[in-house]
Amino acid sequence: MSTKTDIRGVSSHVGETVKIGCWVNNKRSSGKIQFLQLRDGTGYIQGVVVKSEVSEEIWNDAKSLTQESSLYVTGIVREEPRSKSGYEMTVTGIEVLHLTEDYPITPKEHGVDFLMDHRHLWLRSTKQRAVMVVRAQIVRAIREFFDTRGFTLMDPPILTPSSAEGTTELFHIKYFDEDAYLTQSGQLYMEAAAMALGKVYSFGPTFRAEKSKTRRHLIEFWMIEPEMAFVELEESLEVQEQFVSHVVQSVLDNCKAELETLERDVSKLEQVTGSFPRITYDEAIEFLNNNGFDVPWGEDFGAPHETAIANHYDKPVFITHYPAEIKAFYMKPDPNRPEVVLCADMIAPEGYGEIIGGSQRIDDPKLMEERFAQHELSSDAYQWYMDLRKYGSVPHSGFGLGLERTVAWICGLDHVRETIPFPRMLYRLYP
Ligand code: 4AD
Ligand code: MG
Repeated sequence: MSTKTDIRGVSSHVGETVKIGCWVNNKRSSGKIQFLQLRDGTGYIQGVVVKSEVSEEIWNDAKSLTQESSLYVTGIVREEPRSKSGYEMTVTGIEVLHLTEDYPITPKEHGVDFLMDHRHLWLRSTKQRAVMVVRAQIVRAIREFFDTRGFTLMDPPILTPSSAEGTTELFHIKYFDEDAYLTQSGQLYMEAAAMALGKVYSFGPTFRAEKSKTRRHLIEFWMIEPEMAFVELEESLEVQEQFVSHVVQSVLDNCKAELETLERDVSKLEQVTGSFPRITYDEAIEFLNNNGFDVPWGEDFGAPHETAIANHYDKPVFITHYPAEIKAFYMKPDPNRPEVVLCADMIAPEGYGEIIGGSQRIDDPKLMEERFAQHELSSDAYQWYMDLRKYGSVPHSGFGLGLERTVAWICGLDHVRETIPFPRMLYRLYP
């Protein structure tokens, strides 16, 4: 009799006969012994088929297996210190489910376009699996952080009648006879939610029709957006550093094997604890202009600027108090210096760029009206948003963390295309 298990579970079946549904990752043979590298998504195990110990049928079935063929394998689990997982299986039975022919992704090198066209198969590779496991752990850690700190999950709509961040990147669709847009950010709705429940967060897909083809931009990406009533900028920054530290430490604790597969230098991640350095936009401009850049005050930073600043620190760094001109309409001006706003971007170390954008929000109804006019936003469309300032307005702050850029940073990946199962990018909608 055999017990059905998955590869992750073999450690509790040492010495027993188990049955596992799996695929062939790779195979080698020494004539009298075949070594099957098997995977089932939960892990990897080597199945050893010894010619003198199995029937001819089993031996031939093992021989027929090709890369990515599927099977039920039966065998005895053994401890094997030389194997990466610590276990091995002596195969006693094979039930071939499907023999694969001409699997397109072979152990040799493939170009990025080829791999992206075969993303549905590429996901089976060891590296891509590791990225997805880390992504899932990041999501778990994010939820855990907010769920255990008095935040309530609220889901903003995906279909929206107006812009949240700026009109240039809106994804236009028809909503029966009306125009609608895919959400760029749930923030405005989360402000309403915070006025109802105090501390809230959302976690869902957001869309930006950005014509930028960079290693940091996706058209569809996931954002976590906490919003907090009675919280000003400084307190929000403290939440952000605790939050990001929690997420990084949680991956370090729970994804050791995956980080090893990804060859991630974890010493860099281990430093992400405690408080993070902060510099103002003014200080950032000065730093850049002293370090070979030429950025006039009032200009936004690009990737090279962010990287130069980030390289100066071994933790994420906050850049605060940007000029109002280059930031979103809802950000509260600094009362001492109204040309800058109470905002902060968090820049990840090692050149991974901005992972969080956040701010304290305007709570004064008169100033909000002025901003609508300046930004040519129709006050009709934002009537409901004005109501939040009209009925019991309070100081409040929030921020948005981009999941995919966070995954890229923690996994040490060059490009966000590998951080999401099926990336939506400029000119790529398949598969
Ligand atoms: O800085 P952003 O635009 O901020 C907002 O949307 C605010 N409404 C958030 C808030 O205060 N509730 O975007 C937040 C983060 C960025 O820091 C970045 O990590 C990510 O979202 N992001 C993208 N990630 C991948 N592809 C894109 N095209 C992204 N655009 C933004
Ligand atoms: Mg931003």
